[in-house]
Amino acid sequence: MTGAGISAESGIPTFRGAGGLWKEFKAEDLATPEAFAKNPPLVWEWYNWRRQLIAKAVPNPAHKALVQLEIRKRGFTLITQNVDGLHDLAGSGKILKLHGDIWRLRCTVCGANWPNRKTPLPKIPPHCACGGLARPGVVWFGEPLPDGMMKEAEHAVSAAQVFLVIGTSASVYPAASLVPYARQAGAKVIEINTDETPFSATVDCALRGPAGELLPKLW
Ligand code: OAD
Repeated sequence: MTGAGISAESGIPTFRGAGGLWKEFKAEDLATPEAFAKNPPLVWEWYNWRRQLIAKAVPNPAHKALVQLEIRKRGFTLITQNVDGLHDLAGSGKILKLHGDIWRLRCTVCGANWPNRKTPLPKIPPHCACGGLARPGVVWFGEPLPDGMMKEAEHAVSAAQVFLVIGTSASVYPAASLVPYARQAGAKVIEINTDETPFSATVDCALRGPAGELLPKLW
């Protein structure tokens, strides 16, 4: 399972810690359904800015090492909290995107869901072909994960011999619950992070350092 830290070496800011987005911006003003209902253009301006930042980024050696793991290890499943699309760009096949995808839009009226990689967006806020207001295809605070996604992730975790937890503060639920879930299911849990997390003391192995350096070595 990966988090924002795996994309840090690609130049995409993380959410927490030094230089994290939630230091500069308030999540409740930008990443909640209430914020969007109150001010769609403001929320869209922020996502438009992030999309432009992410559009310049390319996968780093950590994303690429996970592609190699997928090719060589049968039963490998990639679970990510990231919405940046760098795992897709690196060439990962099946990805469980717990928090959605910043490169997809969803209609708030008819529910249509479509890919959109335009940066910057030509018009803010964007609209659906049906005329309805479109929203970013991501999961906001207070929203449920995409249908069936957590079940699928738990299924993969319960079958795993090894669970790698890479570049996540493991502080956002339900994603973070997969760490104790993996331990209970009997997987060896290996954390790769530049810093400590709430689970560092309980995992089987905590590797301290940048994912772009450690993952290729581990592989
Ligand atoms: P965070 O920003 O909370 O945590 C990033 C983690 O990556 C931290 O533990 C850092 O120590 C670590 N890190 C930073 N650089 C690293 C590197 N080069 N190599 C390895 N580790 C590194 O990001 P997430 O845990 O992904 O949700 O955040 C979870 C969710 O909170 C996000 O998906 C997003 C956010 O609010 C929503 O928007 C719903």
